[in-house]
Amino acid sequence: MHKDVESVLLSEKQLEKIVNSLAKKIEKDYNGKEFIMVGLLKGSVAFMADLMKKIDLDFSIDFMVASSYGSGTESSGKIKIISDLTQPVEGKDVLIVEDIVDSGNTLNFICNYLVTKGAKDVRVVTLCDKPARRKVPFTPDYVGTEIPDEFIVGYGLDYDEKYRNLPYIGILKRSVYE
Ligand code: IMP
Ligand code: MG
Repeated sequence: MHKDVESVLLSEKQLEKIVNSLAKKIEKDYNGKEFIMVGLLKGSVAFMADLMKKIDLDFSIDFMVASSYGSGTESSGKIKIISDLTQPVEGKDVLIVEDIVDSGNTLNFICNYLVTKGAKDVRVVTLCDKPARRKVPFTPDYVGTEIPDEFIVGYGLDYDEKYRNLPYIGILKRSVYE
């Protein structure tokens, strides 16, 4: 285990199980639909790479970069699109892939943005959800697992751009950010 990690919250085995079960549901719901899978960088990178390989359908992928967090552990609430999609979403079904929903600010903003761009249907799959921390109403369509109000890292999730490469999700020691 990494020295900055307090304890493992989701092991590689547990992550694999969660991803497989999400993939099954998505495969069933999106069967026969033409859709774009949109990953929110950078946090979704590990999750999306594993998830998309388990979905046996035809779809395209794209990415967006949005910012709300600086180097702290609290969302600023102000969302900015740093990098937009490379293809039009007008009339398309969009499935957004996110690492974690916290305040809800990011996805609330991104979903509205894609709807104003003319997307036909916008859904969200998130690996983790911290429903206790919502500041704006937002309910993801597919949730891997609900987690307690702790700051987590690994499997794509970072603190100050570190720990994304850990193969598991761990609770970050408070001493690292307090
Ligand atoms: P929201 O806009 O507050 O819902 O924040 C969502 C974004 O904040 C996520 O996409 C993550 O990048 C980041 N975030 C929220 N909680 C955590 C955490 O516990 N660890 C790492 N990143 C987090
Ligand atoms: Mg993120």
